[in-house]
Amino acid sequence: MSASTINEKKIILVIEPIGMGGELLLKAIRSLGLHTVIATTEKVYHSMLLNFKELMDDTIFVDFSVREKAIETLINESRKKGVSGVVVSWEFLTDIAAEVAHGLNLCGPDATLSKARRNKHFMYRILADAHCPLPHLQAVITNKDDINQLHLEDLTFPLVVKPAENAASFGVSVINTIEDLPQAYTDASQWSHEFPHDIPFSNEILIQEYIPGQEFSVEGISISGKYFPWGVTMKFTTQGKARAETGHIFPAPISDVLRDDILAVAGKAVIALGITNGISHTEIKLDHNGKPRIIESCSRPAGDYIPRLVEISTDENPLAIYAKHAVGNLHADFTPAHAKRYSAVQFIRPETEGIFKSLKLPSKLDHANIIESRVTAQLGSHVKPGSTNMERLGWAILVSNSEQSILHAMDELSKTTKVDIE
Ligand SMILES: Nc1ncnc2c1ncn2[C@@H]1O[C@H](COP(=O)(O)OP(=O)(O)OP(=O)(O)O)[C@@H](O)[C@H]1O
Ligand SMILES: [Mg+2]
Repeated sequence: MSASTINEKKIILVIEPIGMGGELLLKAIRSLGLHTVIATTEKVYHSMLLNFKELMDDTIFVDFSVREKAIETLINESRKKGVSGVVVSWEFLTDIAAEVAHGLNLCGPDATLSKARRNKHFMYRILADAHCPLPHLQAVITNKDDINQLHLEDLTFPLVVKPAENAASFGVSVINTIEDLPQAYTDASQWSHEFPHDIPFSNEILIQEYIPGQEFSVEGISISGKYFPWGVTMKFTTQGKARAETGHIFPAPISDVLRDDILAVAGKAVIALGITNGISHTEIKLDHNGKPRIIESCSRPAGDYIPRLVEISTDENPLAIYAKHAVGNLHADFTPAHAKRYSAVQFIRPETEGIFKSLKLPSKLDHANIIESRVTAQLGSHVKPGSTNMERLGWAILVSNSEQSILHAMDELSKTTKVDIE
């Protein structure tokens, strides 16, 4: 075996390919014919990764909850196996991925800022230093008693309360009065460790200005310090106290001026956070003046099937580009493909609490084609509206040629989908 190939195939370390993002990443890597080494735990391998065994060639079992030891093990084992690229899709492991790539002298984002991309308080400080437009950080508290020390006059409502290190909207609240703050703190601080690896979270809870406008994300790749975005995704979330994602459209149906404004702000954030190489997902909302402010940015692919939307729209799979770049196979003059059509994903959420009996998505729409759909909740399970991305019952991906028709199709799908909860 040569240093970086098995039977001429390059070897790529894939750090914990769980969740929707992980599945898509594994499939993209398989399409490139790379040999995969999966960094996971034995328990995850035999449960959450059970259905993807044919996409995984080799494994390294590692305890991610002991950070330094995990990094050391991954560097040593990867060296022995001849790994020539590192990719990650699980948000909680992006910092370990950056350290491992750095330790192996492989392509990746700046490892010295790996924690800044994982901790929203640290991220805030880096982005503020770089003069990126942000929600104003009103306070950071680590204890319920800290609420009594807050100066009411410093708080402007509505405001956002959220944990520094969780994800998938866990513990994120939008509140309108000071009376709601103790409960929002309790909600934000209820998880002390990540699941399923038991990675400890910082106890910092952020209190932030609420940015009221439309939400977007930007999917891009950085190559040697230069940012190449595929475009802007428009995001739809639930309203009210908690925000969970209900759907996305790519490319966002917005003016070119606004798109370029959003891309510029995302690029500034990505580079400030040290994402000099590799894929990134940046979340942005518009403020009162219609100007973009950064909610967060991280060195990982988007979740929620967004990479699939980019692929449907541009005919280029961003995850394949990420993996190609990681192993040094991306052409030097790469630029992202332009969108040729509109695509959307819509998540079906329960509107009432009860036993989930059935979900019937329409087979046809007037305004778009449904090209993929899945029922994700267990039939017979107990479901409820909830406040995170976990309560979803299923999803559908749509494609259409115009921005008007993709918007109409999202409405049409909502109106014609039948959910039975008893
Ligand atoms: N300062 C803010 N102003 C307005 N809305 C916000 C703000 N912070 C968060 N939100 C809303 O809450 C959602 C989740 O917040 P955030 O992205 O910070 O948490 P997360 O746990 O990383 O969520 P996810 O993984 O779903 O992106 C955002 O997508 C946005 O809709
Ligand atoms: Mg987010």
